[in-house]
This record gives sequence, C-alpha cells and structure tokens, in this order.
Amino acid sequence: MVKVNVGGCNSFVKDAQIGNYLAKALVAFDQLQGEEGAGNDFLGWKHLPSAVLDPASAREGRGYPVPAIPEGTLEACEAVRDAWKAKGVDLVVVVGIGGSYLGARCAVEALSRNFAGLRSDKNAPDVVFAGNNLSEEYIADLLDLAAGRNTACVVISKSGTTTEPAVAFRLLKEFIEKRYSDASERIVAITDAKRGALKTLATQEGYRTFVVPDNVGGRFSVLTPVGLLPIVLAGLDARALLEGALEMEKALSVRSEDNPAVRYAALRNLLYAEAGKKVEVMVTYNPKLQYLGEWWKQLYGESEGKDGKGIFPASVNNTADLHSMGQFIQEGERVLFETVINVEKALANVVIGTDPQNLDQLNYLAGQHVEHCDAMAQLGTKLAHIDGGVPQLEISIEQVDARNLGGLFYFFEFACGVSAYLLGVNPFNQPGVEAYKKNMFALLGKPGYEELAARLKERL
Ligand code: PA5
Repeated sequence: MVKVNVGGCNSFVKDAQIGNYLAKALVAFDQLQGEEGAGNDFLGWKHLPSAVLDPASAREGRGYPVPAIPEGTLEACEAVRDAWKAKGVDLVVVVGIGGSYLGARCAVEALSRNFAGLRSDKNAPDVVFAGNNLSEEYIADLLDLAAGRNTACVVISKSGTTTEPAVAFRLLKEFIEKRYSDASERIVAITDAKRGALKTLATQEGYRTFVVPDNVGGRFSVLTPVGLLPIVLAGLDARALLEGALEMEKALSVRSEDNPAVRYAALRNLLYAEAGKKVEVMVTYNPKLQYLGEWWKQLYGESEGKDGKGIFPASVNNTADLHSMGQFIQEGERVLFETVINVEKALANVVIGTDPQNLDQLNYLAGQHVEHCDAMAQLGTKLAHIDGGVPQLEISIEQVDARNLGGLFYFFEFACGVSAYLLGVNPFNQPGVEAYKKNMFALLGKPGYEELAARLKERL
C-alpha cells in the first residue's frame, strides 16, 4: 500500500493553512468524484483497474464512467507475447510519444532488473522505445540494431496522427516489410477505435489492434494496453500492477482529509499558493525509478500548466543528482519543494565487507547493507534541504515491484485530478501542445498550413 506522509512541511506553513487547503481539496475531490468538473468526459481512467481485472463487475451500472476495455484484454496481450515468442522475436520496438510512451517506459525500467538487456539469462525480448524524438541518429542506430535481431513492433498513438511516432513507424514498417514475409503479424497497433490515420492503416494492413478508450486521455492511459502490452511483452507482471492500482482505486475513493491523494493535492497547492514554492521536484533514490519522474512530469505538467498557472514539475534521481542538482536545491532560488519517493525495502542483499588494510577508510561501514548508506543519504539530504528552506513531502512504498508501481500510478493520476481542480484548471486537456505542432507542420510544408508557413517565414 502506498503511504503519503507530510514530513517537514509544517515548519513552512501553518496548521490553519493546512486545514484550509484540506477543505479546498475535499471540494475538488467532490468535483472529481461527482464528475462535475471540467473535462469530465475523460474520466475513464478512474475505473481502469477494475475494468481490466473484473470487467463484469465494473459494468454493473454503478453510475461511473467505465472505460471501454474489452473483456480478456490482459489475455490478448499475453497472446501477442506468446505468438511473438513462437516466432523467436528477441527485440520489440515500442513506438509512441508522451502519454503513449512514458508510462510503459517507466514500468519497464522500474520492474526489469538493472542491466536486463545485457544479461545472458533473460527470458523475454528486449523492449526498446522509438518515436519519442526526431533524431536521425537514433532511428539509424535503431534500424541497425534491428537488422541483427528478430524484430517486432508495437505502434501506439491515440490520435493516430502524431508526427514523431508516425515518422518512426513509417521507417520501421518499411524495414519489417522488406525483411519478413509475415510482416503484418509482427506489428501491433494501439489507437483510437474509429478515427485517425493509424486506425485506417492498421485496418488496411490487417494488424492486430488494441483500443485506447475514448474517455481515457494519453497521460492517463498507462493501465490500458498502451502500458499493459509493452509490460507483458517485457515479461513483467501486468496483473500485479493492476491489482496494486485496484487496491489504490478503492482506498482513494474514501472522502476524508486522511485520503493521501487529498493530502498531497492540498499540501502541494498550499506550498505553491501561500509559500511561493513554484517548482516541485520529484526525488527518487533508485535508478530504476528515474522514469517515474519522467512519467509524473508529463502527467502534472500537461494537466496543470495552463491559464498562466501551475507548479513546474521537475525531477532528480539521487544520489547521482545530489552531485549535479544538489547545490541548487540546497542554496539556489528558494522556489522549490520536494516530493520524495521513499522505498522502504530493497529487493537485494549486498553487504559491505571489511578490508584489513582499510586504505579507502570505509571499514566504518563494514557489515552494513548498501541500502543503509542510501537511507542515510536520503535522511541527511532531507534534513539539509529542510534547513535550506526546501519543504519535503514524502510518499512511501514498500518496495519497487509491480503491485506498488500500480498503486503509485493510480495514486498520482487521482491526486492530479484533485490537485488540478483545486488549482482551478481542466486537468484533461492540453491546448498548449498544439502551438509547436502547427508551426512544425507549417515549416515542414504540410498541406493546409501554407498561410501560417508564409507568416512564420516572414519572422525568420
Ligand atoms: O497526454 C497526452 O494526451 C499527450 O501527451 C499524448 O499522449 C501525446 O501527445 C501523444 O499523442 P498520441 O497518442 O495521440 O500520438
């Protein structure tokens, strides 16, 4: 179970303020639960865990927005895994960007062993990601890698029209078609049920497809096939992930000041609005969690950064970043607060030994677990940063596993809805993302953008 503590915050804000913001967060909670807030046609994510794990009960007409997830979705993901295993596939390229990328990447990184791709005992294909950049070198290196491997591809785009994945997929499709006679069996598309270029293409080519439900936005889609299929293909436990999310779905449905999502939403908005803390830094202490920060940044950045408002989400992965960003966090502009992901237990057992010569002067650590050093680094940093004027929120999980990660995904999504309503913005749109896209299309010469192209060229 994910636990949220509030250590360190009290010295920066007054108890009365906390009470005030908890009351505001409960109003926002009611908006989210009552489906009265802006963007309320995008609430399908709230019931994804139950819809995937127990579709019959989720459809019992409980008056909440059930996402259109077909029965047997997990089994269908497993069928793709088994079919590709039978073909000997050892490289899966997952093509997607933003919400069609970051959740899957986060889960694959968090749940795989470190150096998974380099291990000789691996029993699942390597899963790599593409379509999240427009780097010619990246795609060239990927095609070069794929040439020496038995390759398959999952292409993900809810709209089916996003440029970055479309470019990468055109190149990968051509590569797969030239190389394999069973090309259409090596490609799976995840997209809208009816609309978009990818849907048309997948239907015409006869690809196996999975659907991103209409009422689930991209950055809230990790518990749909968008996240589940890559997780299953990587040999990871998608069922446990969903079970952890379901546990959290139930826990967060309770209207209470002790609801951790209500507390998190209240405290971050309080620090933002009353203590001048405009930047929230997610802090992790495990390299496997680096992409949790990336996923979370998109979720909160795209959901809250609008109408001239919003906390800027940043992330660091310690202890590495204590040696890069640590100085700024300790002594730079005092606009920061930190949200620390505290992991209680390591899934390994490495003890530091005694060295008779002690030339490195580390014998004082002999007999200690490496994790103990990490815990003391975390504690020391917390105390130092509080002294330096950086409030700390703390979110604890027991260990980095599928169940806890599922709980974290759901926790942050739900808290994001509450927090954005408290802030007074629509969490479920992203109008600002269109500005760069229009300019890019105009500059690339896309038909229909001639007038904008002429205006932009005048400015250059
Ligand atoms: O959260 C979002 O909606 C966005 O980040 C999208 O996921 C991202 O732009 C990719 O869009 P699509 O899946 O339509 O290609």
